[in-house]
Amino acid sequence: MPALSKATRTLACVTALTLAPLATAHMDEKEPLQSYRQSYFALLAANFGPLGAMAQGDMPWNDEMVQLFAADLQSVSSLNLMRGFAEGSERGTTRAKPEIWENLNDFEAKLQDMRDAVDGLSAVAASGDREQIAQQIGAVGQACKACHDDYKSKDYLY
Ligand code: HEC
Repeated sequence: MPALSKATRTLACVTALTLAPLATAHMDEKEPLQSYRQSYFALLAANFGPLGAMAQGDMPWNDEMVQLFAADLQSVSSLNLMRGFAEGSERGTTRAKPEIWENLNDFEAKLQDMRDAVDGLSAVAASGDREQIAQQIGAVGQACKACHDDYKSKDYLY
């Protein structure tokens, strides 16, 4: 690998310093994997929350926002979540049940179900067919719940 130029290294240091205070708010450096997966879910929820609220009539429906959130939900959901469940990350500040690591295939199948539902939502998001879109938002919500029912604890475990 070519050595970084001095200017690039300096820039990297400055950027790291600038970002550090922000990063510590969400990333526990002692638990990077747990922080990673929790950040993934937090971003999923930030996009799914308003979609669910619009589908349930708790927030005024807005076609443009539906399309934006559905697109971002798809981008976020496609990130490599399983990185955050790597060996050694079972404990810590987490609501992830130990059963995940005993049933990784099933856990990943539930993740795939959610991605399929999110893709389904994305396919109809621009259709203007409010009923169909709401139905697909419901399907995504079901897929979140199916995994949480088996693998997410209400309280922190350790
Ligand atoms: C394949 C399983 C699975 C799917 C699918 C899933 N979750 Fe989760 N979710 C988890 C697990 C496990 C945790 C606990 C992670 C931890 O504490 O380390 C979690 C945690 C969360 C959290 C808390 C994050 C934090 O800040 O600690 C939120 C919010 C969340 N999920 C929302 C969602 C939403 C919304 C969806 C659907 C769009 C979804 N999840 C789909 C398994 C899943």
